[in-house]
Amino acid sequence: MKGHMMEFGLTPQLPYSVQEAVNRLRINISFAGSDVRKIMVISSEPNEGKSFIAINLWNQMAEAGEKTIFLDADMRNSNIFRKYQLSRTDGEEMMGTSHFLAGNAKLDDVLMHTKYGHGDFIPNVENVVNPSMLLETELFSTLLDTLAEEYRYVFIDAPPLGLVSDAERIGNLCDGAILCVRSGVTPKAIVRESVRQLNRAGCPLLGIVLNRVDESKGGYGKYGRYGKYGSYYGGYYYGDGNKDD
Ligand SMILES: Nc1ncnc2c1ncn2[C@@H]1O[C@H](COP(=O)(O)OP(=O)(O)OP(=O)(O)O)[C@@H](O)[C@H]1O
Ligand SMILES: [Mg+2]
Repeated sequence: MKGHMMEFGLTPQLPYSVQEAVNRLRINISFAGSDVRKIMVISSEPNEGKSFIAINLWNQMAEAGEKTIFLDADMRNSNIFRKYQLSRTDGEEMMGTSHFLAGNAKLDDVLMHTKYGHGDFIPNVENVVNPSMLLETELFSTLLDTLAEEYRYVFIDAPPLGLVSDAERIGNLCDGAILCVRSGVTPKAIVRESVRQLNRAGCPLLGIVLNRVDESKGGYGKYGRYGKYGSYYGGYYYGDGNKDD
């Protein structure tokens, strides 16, 4: 597919412990079978690390040689464009997911190539007030299918489940979800409700990421209770690394 070259002003960077954990997650995903292509990265509440995990997973998958695309489908509150200082190499103005779904841009206008192996990217550049309408369009489901034909993995960064129905809508169109849970912060009942919501949306849970674990407080063992959710590959945890906010 055509598209444009894009630069990261700020490189996605991981502390070593997180790098190792994302790597394990990547390997587990690769065992989920060739039908699992459209993967949503989701959480119950805001700020649990969805975008962080999604971008690093995309990055590692691309560097491992898989044809992989990152789709920013959080059109309500995405900060990736600004946070990573994304820009087009040719200096032209960038357009993204909301432009495309609103019919203001073609796929080639929003599809970005990067220096990371076979990693492509569709950023969201403009947040909008009512993204639900855009997610309901046939354009969105067709976009996901087109991408899944072209790429081995489509990682979709979504808004949190709790907020509005957007994430359920996206989940309904995906082959699986990775649920990010902020260790020791997100109440268990809320995590359970998210698992139910994913079930309702018919979206298999591929894995739960225990993110932002404070290792000094006992790390993984303490959070082993998440292990009882069954149909996923097990828990992963990530150190709090060098949080930048
Ligand atoms: N494991 C981690 N190590 C270091 N920093 C992290 C980690 N996980 C998340 N962060 C940082 O925490 C902040 C929140 O993460 P992020 O933006 O990915 O959350 P989110 O779930 O996508 O939030 P939102 O619901 O607003 O989209 C970011 O600044 C991110 O860089
Ligand atoms: Mg996010």
